[in-house]
Amino acid sequence: KFNRLEREAPDPIVQTMTLYANDPSPNKVDVSIGVYKSEKGGSYLFPCVAEAKKVLAANDPGHNYTNMQGIPEFISGARKVAFGEEYAAEGKLASLQTISGTGALHMGFVFLREAGYTNFYLGVPSWSNYIGMIEFIGSKVTTFTHYNEKTKKIEFDAVVSALESAPANSVFLFQTCCHNPTGADYSQEQWKKIGQLLKQRDLIAVLDTAYQGFSSGDKDKDAWAIRHFYELGLEFVVCQSFSKNLGLYGERVGCVHAVVQDKEYVPNAQSTLVANFRSECSFAPAYGARLASIIFQSPELKQVWDNDVAEITERLKTIRKKVLDILTELKTPGKWDHVVEQEGLFWYSGLTPVQNDRLISEHNVYSTSIGRVNIAGLNNNNVEYFCKAIDEVVRN
Ligand code: LMR
Repeated sequence: KFNRLEREAPDPIVQTMTLYANDPSPNKVDVSIGVYKSEKGGSYLFPCVAEAKKVLAANDPGHNYTNMQGIPEFISGARKVAFGEEYAAEGKLASLQTISGTGALHMGFVFLREAGYTNFYLGVPSWSNYIGMIEFIGSKVTTFTHYNEKTKKIEFDAVVSALESAPANSVFLFQTCCHNPTGADYSQEQWKKIGQLLKQRDLIAVLDTAYQGFSSGDKDKDAWAIRHFYELGLEFVVCQSFSKNLGLYGERVGCVHAVVQDKEYVPNAQSTLVANFRSECSFAPAYGARLASIIFQSPELKQVWDNDVAEITERLKTIRKKVLDILTELKTPGKWDHVVEQEGLFWYSGLTPVQNDRLISEHNVYSTSIGRVNIAGLNNNNVEYFCKAIDEVVRN
């Protein structure tokens, strides 16, 4: 019976997170899983969320079933965050509330499979979960290298040649901003080229947007690619998470949107999303989505949210600068400018697996096995210790 099952390897991100949790050292530094932490090092409660919790507690809606598509105010607010007020109102979107970003990706992949699209292309290095998720539903994934480990920048020629050579109807999976794990994002010019090739070559995009706002400090700016693709008249899928930009990780707040240019077919896409979800989950969790809805509907709380996102982004940039300054001061061998050039939560350090293992075993510094550092895990108390640990593993 069950002895046929194989023992599965744990996810590398979760593995590092668990190692950290089990380390009794008072000096330990967690720069593993993608969670925004405050200057004090703890998890961060967004002030707009704190306020929304009070509003929700004062207007308890109870625990009944919600709507299978999702909470209507949440769906309409999530659309505006991704597409902007104007496009969100045009009636070309089919949307489903999901179990955060992973759920949005899963439902997006299942939706695409239903529509006949099972051939995925993915630039690597990328988020460790994508390939498993695509293959889990029986779709196929081809990878190409979109990042140059030497220059520490996007290898755009490789992206273009993948787009130029993929068969029609292939699906390209991109991240809109704050690329996980490389922190290297496309410029607007590069997005234009990508959009043009998607159109010319009859390809489909999935845009994963899990860190909207943390790249430029402005959620609208970070959604540039989504809105540009919409304007190009493309049909594509957007997978949205509010884990990071509202700090609602465990509440699992997300949304998937399919852009359908011919409005006549929106109900088909919408009913497909809902029917698929009925088979998998029935209803998405309500609590976090209710909090998000309260923020989406209140101009005051939206303003507080915007300010928060801008401040967080500023803080991330300040920490990056500090890391560069300290490594420069220590004269750590190598070039470290990429720490300030990359954006969002992650710094793709370029440390080797051996150096990375030594960071953990000798210095209690937990960055993920591929050398991805969550910059938000650093603060005034530990940044120097962290940089000295890097200096030591690089030198010896
Ligand atoms: C991460 O990459 O650390 C986050 O997106 C959390 C996760 O689920 O892996």
